[in-house]
Amino acid sequence: MGKLWGGRFENTTNEKVEILNESLTFDRELWEEDIIGSLAHLGALFEAGIIREEEYVKLKKGLLEIRRDIKKAGMKSIQGYEDIHSYIEAMLIKKVGQIGGKLHTGRSRNDQVALDLHLYLKKNIPLIKQEIKNFQIILLNHAEENPETIMPGYTHLQRAQPTLLAHHLLAYFWKFQRDLERLEGVLERTDLMPLGAGAIAGSGFPMDREKTAKILGFKEIYQNSIDAVSDRDFILEFMSFASILMMHLSRMAEEIIIWSSLEFKFVELDDAFATGSSLMPQKKNPDVAELVRGKTGRVYGHFFALLTTMKGLPLAYNKDMQEDKEGLFDIVKTIKNVLPAFSGLIKTISFNTEKMYKAASSDYLWATDLADLLVEKGIPFRKGHERAGRAIKKCLEEGKNLFEWDPRDWKEFFPELSEEEIFIFQAVENSISRRELIGGTGYRAVKQQLELAKGLVN
Ligand code: ARG
Repeated sequence: MGKLWGGRFENTTNEKVEILNESLTFDRELWEEDIIGSLAHLGALFEAGIIREEEYVKLKKGLLEIRRDIKKAGMKSIQGYEDIHSYIEAMLIKKVGQIGGKLHTGRSRNDQVALDLHLYLKKNIPLIKQEIKNFQIILLNHAEENPETIMPGYTHLQRAQPTLLAHHLLAYFWKFQRDLERLEGVLERTDLMPLGAGAIAGSGFPMDREKTAKILGFKEIYQNSIDAVSDRDFILEFMSFASILMMHLSRMAEEIIIWSSLEFKFVELDDAFATGSSLMPQKKNPDVAELVRGKTGRVYGHFFALLTTMKGLPLAYNKDMQEDKEGLFDIVKTIKNVLPAFSGLIKTISFNTEKMYKAASSDYLWATDLADLLVEKGIPFRKGHERAGRAIKKCLEEGKNLFEWDPRDWKEFFPELSEEEIFIFQAVENSISRRELIGGTGYRAVKQQLELAKGLVN
C-alpha cells in the first residue's frame, strides 16, 4: 500500500522486506518538516509554471489541512506506508484526488529527506542552545554567591591544591561555552538547502532554488546536487557536538555523585532531585546524575553508528542513510531531557562549605606553596620540592602540621624562613591569594573571570 514506485514491478513486496524497509515508525518525527518542505516545493513548482494556479491553491489547501489534522489528532492509520514522505503524499491524494500526485514533480525523496533533516535540526538547535545557556547562568549564580568558598582541588582524585569553589564551577562554564560555539558552527553548516538536488543530478525542472531557500529561511543552498543528497556531515557534526557536551555533563555528574557521598559530603541534593532506595530507608541517591553519566553512552553509540554507516557509501544516496534518523532523534530527545533535569539539580544543590574548607585545610595542601616560597629565597625549585617533601614526611610521621612543630625544627629544616613565613601555611587563604594571575584561582582573578563569563551569557 502507498508505494511511490510500483510502476515497473510485477510482484508485490515480500512482507519481511516491508518490515525491514519501512521507516515511518520513526521518521514520523519529521512530519511537520515534510509538510513545510512540500509547501515550499509546491510554491517553486507554481512559480516555474509547472503547475497551474488552481492546482497550486488546491494542493496547498490540502497540505495545510493535513498539517492541521495531524496537529489536532496525531497521525492515524500509518500501517502499511513506507515512510513519512509516502504517507503525507498518500494523505494528500486522499484529500484532493489524483492531482495530489503532482506534488512530487521535480523532486526525489533523496532531496526531500535531506531537506526534512536540515529543517529538523534548524528547529532544535536553538532550543538546545537555550538550555545550555540556562545551565551556564546557574553556574554563574553559584560562583557569584560563593566568592570566598575554598575547596580542595583534585588531580588523580587526590587532594592537590586549595581552589575556590567558584573557580571549579567556572571551569564548567568555559567547557559549555565551547559547546555553544561548536553548536553555532553546526548550525552554520546545517543552514544549507538541499531541495532541488532531485535524486542526484538536480531537478529536471527550472526551479528557483535561491528563492525557495529564502522562503524556507535557509542562508545558503548546496552548490552541488550530488553533495546535497549524499551529505550527512551536518548530522555527524551535531552528534559530535552532542557527544562532547554529554562528556562534560557526565564529568560534572561524576563529581556530584562523589561529592554527595557520605565520604565526601561536599554537597547535599535537594529532595526533588534525588531518589530513595526501595530497601534501605536511609538512602538518598543521586539517580539524576547517574542517568546523565549513563546516557552519555548511548549518545556516543549513535555517533559511532552513523560514522560507521557512512564510511563505505559510494556517492550519492544509499538506503543505508535511512539509519541516520533513530540515533539523531534519540540524541535530541536525550539532551532535551538531560539538560533541564541536571540544571535543576545543580540549581538546587547546597554546598557544604565548611566541609570543603576543612578538607582544603588538612593534608598539607600547602606543600607546593612551601616549595614556591623557598624558590623566592633563591633555592632552585627541584631542591625546594625535595625539602618540602621531607617536611611532609616529618609531618606524616609525627601526625603534626608544619605550624605545630617545635620551632627548633623549623630552624633546622628551613633556616631561611622566618616564623611568620611558616605561619603563612596555617591559612589556606594564603594559597589562594598567591594565584592572582589571569586564569588562576586568586580571589580577584576569579572575580575578573566571573565578570568576563557574565558578559558572554548576556
Ligand atoms: N526513508 C528514506 C530515508 O530515510 C527516504 C529516502 C528514500 N529514498 C530512496 N531513494 N529510496 O532515507
